[in-house]
Amino acid sequence: MKTVTVGVLGSGTVGQDVLNLIQKRKHIFDDIGVNVEIAGVLVRDVQKKRNIPDGIRVTDTCDFLQECGVVIETMGGVDRPLEILHPYLRSHRSVITANKALLAERWDVLREYALDGNLYYEASVMAGTPVIGPMSTVLRASTFTRLQAVLNGTCNYILTQMEGGKEYAQALAEAQALGYAEDPPTLDVGGFDTAHKLTVMARFCADGNFPYSAVEVQGIEGLTLADIEDARKNGEKYKLVAELERHGNGWKATVAPKRLPETHPLCTAGASRNALVYEGEECGTLIFAGGGAGGMITASAMVGDLLDYLLGFPGHVPLH
Ligand code: NDP
Ligand code: HSE
Repeated sequence: MKTVTVGVLGSGTVGQDVLNLIQKRKHIFDDIGVNVEIAGVLVRDVQKKRNIPDGIRVTDTCDFLQECGVVIETMGGVDRPLEILHPYLRSHRSVITANKALLAERWDVLREYALDGNLYYEASVMAGTPVIGPMSTVLRASTFTRLQAVLNGTCNYILTQMEGGKEYAQALAEAQALGYAEDPPTLDVGGFDTAHKLTVMARFCADGNFPYSAVEVQGIEGLTLADIEDARKNGEKYKLVAELERHGNGWKATVAPKRLPETHPLCTAGASRNALVYEGEECGTLIFAGGGAGGMITASAMVGDLLDYLLGFPGHVPLH
């Protein structure tokens, strides 16, 4: 049996479930002849009570990284995780991350490691609903034309609750309690988290160096109960929609609230679920839908990435 030493950055909504799922899937690691050893878990507050397996070292220092073969990043933010991960990536080791803000905003640093196959990030878009995998493999054979997507569970939850008459502030507080929201939630309701995810996807289907700054962003903060009620009376729903399509010789990427017929595939996915309508010349129209936020569903994609790493599959390689 080979031992692979894993470091985990963060033990919040996602990180705790990653640690629990790694323990729960021990039999799969056994089957492939790997003993997964958690070298340490980085947090801010070591006194906080956590729902994680016994015996794991929880610390506020990164000293354990030296001994790790692979690091799983679930801490969020941009500058601090980059500061920790960059030297680690430079030493040709692999990183698994759910952090779309980091991927979108610091591609200038991360792209070369992604091209080398050392970055795994299925969980960064639509959490455990697999879209990055297909986009980085089979879908490359088809000419991409357009995509439309609902990518933020927090906004979707808020808008669905408002359809039932709930006030925006109450619905946002509930989404936070469910562990869906970013810190701060302006990232969600301002449309920035959706723009981060659209940027990550654009690098597989439009331009491998697609810049985050190219996305036009509008959030849902301006929507009122009256707007939503007016849409409902006309058989429509408001969704925060990400769109990417050809525009002259380039691409147009937008995030904005849109009124859609309630039978539209982006509306029928459900309250906190994500959906993606992907159009390609040869593959036709494909629809992906499923959970896009929450601890265990995100952990499922990250532990899936860990298995890919252990089996020797490369990470998610963008367009060259
Ligand atoms: P949480 O806020 O629940 O957890 C963050 C964890 O990171 C906490 O354990 C926190 O420590 C630790 N942490 C944060 N900053 C630091 C720091 N500077 N130094 C040391 N430890 C730090 O976040 P989530 O689990 O919700 O999200 C984590 C990542 O996953 C984010 O990038 C997010 O965008 C992404 N993601 C989240 C999803 C979700 O549904 N929640 C879904 C898909 C992706 P402490 O506990 O001590 O405060
Ligand atoms: N805050 C994000 C959302 C988490 O609500 O969709 C999943 O990326």
